Amino acid sequence: MKISIPPYVHSWPAPAVLVGCGTVAKPNLITIAWFGTVCSEPPHITISVRPSRFSFDLIKLSGEFTVNIPTVEQLNAVKLCGEKSGRHIDKFKELGWTPRLCPPLVAAPMVEECFLSLGCKVKHILPLGTHHSFISEVVCVYIEESLIRHQRRPDPKPESQLVWLDTKYWQLNKLDK
Ligand SMILES: Cc1cc2nc3c(=O)[nH]c(=O)nc-3n(C[C@H](O)[C@H](O)[C@H](O)COP(=O)(O)O)c2cc1C
Repeated sequence: MKISIPPYVHSWPAPAVLVGCGTVAKPNLITIAWFGTVCSEPPHITISVRPSRFSFDLIKLSGEFTVNIPTVEQLNAVKLCGEKSGRHIDKFKELGWTPRLCPPLVAAPMVEECFLSLGCKVKHILPLGTHHSFISEVVCVYIEESLIRHQRRPDPKPESQLVWLDTKYWQLNKLDK
């Protein structure tokens, strides 16, 4: 028998992505698990960010950010960007990573070392409570050339993507043929 418990957000499997913000000259990265697709055409995604994060004001100010997909080999970077604040350290420098311009974005840096980066422009900001949801259009995609398959769609590298679930990191297993 099911019983009723107080409402809360259950820990679904969520991607852990690296969001690039600020500028190429003064870049920052924040690990985000509250990330999701909200429209396929025109492509829109959402990220939810607490106003207390250093990245929050950077994203609000420029109205743009990048979403960089890390691999399991980059777990240490995901941990660093999710545990340290850009108020105190330069995360790109700490990781030895390269911030690169992501045209047509004019400010937000993408991570050269990540195989896939999305350039996003903020369309709506929804203050929901603990988090504000940034509903944003994906205006450009940069991908490692070797991963391009048919119709310019990239191999999503499912076996090397990170999942955040129940305060731990996981890796995916394929069930279908
Ligand atoms: C796996 C993981 C997922 C996270 N997801 C979010 C998120 O969705 N939204 C958020 O505001 N903070 C999230 N955080 C916390 C921020 O990444 C963390 O507070 C970070 O240090 C903020 O950096 P900043 O101050 O440079 O912006 C997450 C942290 C981890 C480790």
